[in-house]
This record gives sequence, C-alpha cells and structure tokens, in this order.
Amino acid sequence: MAEEMRIVLRNYGKIDPLNIEDYLKAGGYKGLEKARAMSQIDLINEVKKSGLRGRGGAGFNAGAKWSFSYNTGAEVKYVVCNADEGEPGTYKDRIIMENDPQSLLEGMAICGYAIGAQKGYIYCRGEYPYVVDILNQAIDQAKAKGVLGDFDIEVRMGAGAYVCGEETALIESIEGHRGEPRFKPPFPPVAGLWSNPTIVNNVETFANIPVILEKGADWYSSIGAKSYPGTKVLTLTGDVNNRIFIEVPTDTTIRQVIYDFGGGIPDNKKFKAVQIGGTSGGFIPESLLDTSIDFDSMSGIGAALGSGAVFVMDETRDIVDVVQRITKFFEHESCGKCTPCREGTKRMNEIICRLNSGQGLAYDLTTLEKLGRVMSVACLCGLGQAAPAPVLTTLKHFADDYSAHLN
Ligand SMILES: Cc1cc2nc3c(=O)[nH]c(=O)nc-3n(C[C@H](O)[C@H](O)[C@H](O)COP(=O)(O)O)c2cc1C
Repeated sequence: MAEEMRIVLRNYGKIDPLNIEDYLKAGGYKGLEKARAMSQIDLINEVKKSGLRGRGGAGFNAGAKWSFSYNTGAEVKYVVCNADEGEPGTYKDRIIMENDPQSLLEGMAICGYAIGAQKGYIYCRGEYPYVVDILNQAIDQAKAKGVLGDFDIEVRMGAGAYVCGEETALIESIEGHRGEPRFKPPFPPVAGLWSNPTIVNNVETFANIPVILEKGADWYSSIGAKSYPGTKVLTLTGDVNNRIFIEVPTDTTIRQVIYDFGGGIPDNKKFKAVQIGGTSGGFIPESLLDTSIDFDSMSGIGAALGSGAVFVMDETRDIVDVVQRITKFFEHESCGKCTPCREGTKRMNEIICRLNSGQGLAYDLTTLEKLGRVMSVACLCGLGQAAPAPVLTTLKHFADDYSAHLN
C-alpha cells in the first residue's frame, strides 16, 4: 500500500483517546496556547492564509468564515461542530472522534477564541452513542485540566435525519425545532443559533486547526493541491480490495486512491465507476480517473469531493440499479419543506424505478435530465440541489446502461 500523510489522524493509534495526558504529551493544546498569545485578527488571518477549506462538503475557506462572525461584533456567538456524518459510506469523523477527541475540542476552542465565543456545541450523529460517551469523557477531562479556559462545550445528539447535516437544519435541530433548512441569507456566521453569529465547521476541519497553529500556515498551504491545500481523510467502500480509511494529500489522483491505496478491484474484475463524496456525488468513469481529488478538480468534472466517501463499482454492477437505490434514499430523506425537492425526489425515483424494471420509455431520459437541472437550481438546500448529480452524471457517462434497460 502507498504511503499516507497523516495530519488529522496524527495521533491515531498512538495515544489513549480517553487519557488527556497522552494528548498533552503528544503536543496537544500547544496550538491553543499559541493562538491565545495572538490577537484575534492575526489568528483569523493565519487560518485564512493556510488555505484550509471546509471538509464537510461545501469547501468554504475556514478563516474567511470565521472573520464574518468576528466582524459582527455581537456579544453572544457560538461555535458548532457538525458531527452528523449522515452521508452513506462515510465514517471519517467517527474515526477522528473515537481516536483523538481532544484535537476536535482544541480546534473548537481556537475558533471560539478567534471569533469571541464562549460556548460550543458538537452535534453528533444519533447512531454514534458510544462516540457521544467518548466526547463527554474528553470534555470532562479537558474541563478538569482547565485547558479550555472559559470556553464551554456541550454535546447534542441527532436523531437519524440526513438533512440535519445541512448547517441550518442542524441549527434548527439544536434549538429543538423540526430539522428543516432555513432560507439564506442570512448565513449562520452572521445569524445562526438563536439568531446569534455561529460558526459551523466539520469535525475534520476543526481537527486540522491545532496543527496549523503549531506548524504554521505556510507549512500547511504547501501540502497538496494549491486551491484546496492539506490532506483529506477518505473512506473506501464497494468493489475494492482494501475497504479502509486513508488520509492523503489533496493532489492525490482518484486512480492512486483506488489502486495504490485501495489495492484495485477484487477477483481480477474490471473497474466500471466510482462515486466520490457520498450519495449525492457524481459518478466518475475510467477516463477521468487521473483527476486529483481536491475540491476544484472534482467540481471541474461534475463530481464532488463532498465528505470523502469513495464508492467503487466493478464491471458487473448495473448503474441504473445502483442509481435507483440512491434516488430512493433521497425520496426518503427529503424533508419536504420545498416543492422542487419534495416532488422532484419522488418523481425522479418513480422514473428510475420504471426504467430499472424495463418499463421505461425513451422520453423518460429527457424528463430525468430536465428535472435534474431544475432541481439543482430550484431546491432550497444542498440536499435537493445535489440529489440529481448521480442521475445526471450517469446519463452522461453511462448512457449504455440506460439504453440496455430501454431495449
Ligand atoms: C443534506 C446535507 C447534509 C450535510 N451533511 C453534513 C454532515 O453530515 N457533516 C458536515 O460536516 N457537513 C454536512 N453538510 C454540509 C454543511 O451544511 C456545512 O456546509 C458544513 O458543516 C460546514 O462545515 P465545513 O465548512 O467545515 O465543511 C451537509 C449539507 C447538506 C446539504
């Protein structure tokens, strides 16, 4: 297997996650110490300069996001960690929280100091009750040790809704409301939790922060792709020999991920497709495997890096059948607040089911494409906007699979 580069998972397997002394011995909380010796503006500029962009899917520059909250000058602000991790095939945040919970707490405390917030929430996936236990123990230890200073962190549990990973639905859920996305603007950095400025960042984003402080923005920005520097934790699933998680620089290509780290396709079968970024990611054919995994390169081929799920399919997979499972997922997970998503995901699934069962008609393909294009611009949140990506990219790259069903 090729060699990984571990920044986020630097302490994986080396420390006892339930013993803060281990984390401190490994250099833990040095980043926070360094951050507190800086002015808030210098700190935000350092994070901006590192080029760190969100690891939860949207890829927004973390330092720039923090500056919006800082600039509001509001008295009450919040830091929220998105640990909902509802994306099928993704378990990277779980690996980080299970193995190095203090690095997440340290990253959040640095953010709290930078924007001027005293309170943080970790919104953890409801299916991870043991992770919640680990986080609570880690928070108790950090408080007892006094490393967090006046920054308080509390854990809140999700209840199994995929849409609650969307940052405004997540905020609604923490507030005790039904998890439905809000109209934007205003965006959370200006008006989020209880209408106060709120930074929502992903677990992996926060876990990068202490190292950036410790080693400097210049060091970090020199790793991986220029426009999306650093590393990315990926989770490999499907028809691949090594179904593992890896952390690699962001200029690694998809081919390297599948063959050098994943060990290729089992049973000498041929590669057919890979879906990256989770259920809403585009399907990538063989001809595009030399694209690097960074955010912009993936967007450039109509795919998405998203959460970093890598789902490999061999030559025996029927693409229309795989897509049917995906459209069913979105129909089920749509919260129903906006019409294009509520109706669109349902109709999309209906048409795909018809095609998959051999009852499809040629115009179904045109309808699917039109519907997908409308949804991607008309839906209220990223769920409905991204739901058509698997359909649109397979219509483009795997037209033969659709023709086979029509014939
Ligand atoms: C339907 C949907 C589900 C999402 N699920 C997650 C999730 O599980 N974890 C996450 O970090 N971001 C998720 N996001 C992205 C968040 O809305 C938000 O962009 C992210 O938490 C910001 O953090 P980052 O800038 O550190 O990536 C989801 C977005 C959508 C539209």
